[in-house]
Amino acid sequence: MSEFDEAERRIWAGRAEAFRDGFAKLCAHTAPALLDAAGAGPGTRLLDVGTGSGTVAVAACARGARVTAVDAEPGMVALARRAAPEADVHVAVLPNLPFGPGTFDAVVANFVVNHTGRPAATVAALRDATRPGGRVAATIWCSPVGVGHELLDRAVDEAGVERPADLPWLDPADDFPRTAEGFAALFKDVGLDRVSCEPLAWDHVAGPEEWWGGAASGVGLIGQTIGRQDPAIIERIKVAYDRLVAEYAGADGQLVLRYHALLASGRVASGSNGSTGMGS
Ligand SMILES: C[S@@+](CC[C@H](N)C(=O)[O-])C[C@H]1O[C@@H](n2cnc3c(N)ncnc32)[C@H](O)[C@@H]1O
Repeated sequence: MSEFDEAERRIWAGRAEAFRDGFAKLCAHTAPALLDAAGAGPGTRLLDVGTGSGTVAVAACARGARVTAVDAEPGMVALARRAAPEADVHVAVLPNLPFGPGTFDAVVANFVVNHTGRPAATVAALRDATRPGGRVAATIWCSPVGVGHELLDRAVDEAGVERPADLPWLDPADDFPRTAEGFAALFKDVGLDRVSCEPLAWDHVAGPEEWWGGAASGVGLIGQTIGRQDPAIIERIKVAYDRLVAEYAGADGQLVLRYHALLASGRVASGSNGSTGMGS
């Protein structure tokens, strides 16, 4: 496992509930477009990788899909099982998936490829699990990610707090441009065809304390930056946050946070056996 993947395991460990109650609501906005891109409908054999607390699995079940879901974090698996009792949910760590080649009609990954140390191997693993003619679809954040993160970053900067030196950074050899072209290339390079990549944008509405709570609980890189500080420093960041928050609030005091993501999808070429062994 790469250093990046080891750091990811530490970041998610024990944070399933905190994710569900905070940033999962932000990630949920892209679920309908992701499932549309995967062609998910009644009877689709669908795999949701990095299911987290199960948002996409629940939405796929509601469409009548036959859903399998995996996540590396056992706490997430427990929550997803509870949220989507019809789904078959397991622990599995990408890029190693415990399924034979071509098991699924569609494989989806909502904000997961960007959490793996070898993104190309991850997309190859998604392709391998998909039958010829089936679809792979995934979302990632793009830059700038969104104003909710800008707000938290500004609060950290105003409080004069340095980012921890040991936050995970991808090996440049494994990284890819976080652009529509860069994400699409990841799909094309593993042999997927009919690849497309589109930008998505939406307003995420959250209460100021709810938004702060998600970050302060240590979820994600910004959460690690805030949540790992001493209580006195966290309080200093919070004071700065409370001062800045008015700039982002609507008339009702709720935060209206513009976010941006990329949605890529592709098809496993007919006649392919769905596996080159790269991801499995
Ligand atoms: C940002 S969350 C997204 C969760 C979910 N897809 C959603 O939209 O709410 C990323 C998820 O990917 C999982 N994850 C990260 N790296 C993983 C890996 N290598 N294999 C499987 N799951 C992974 C994390 O445990 C976490 O649940």
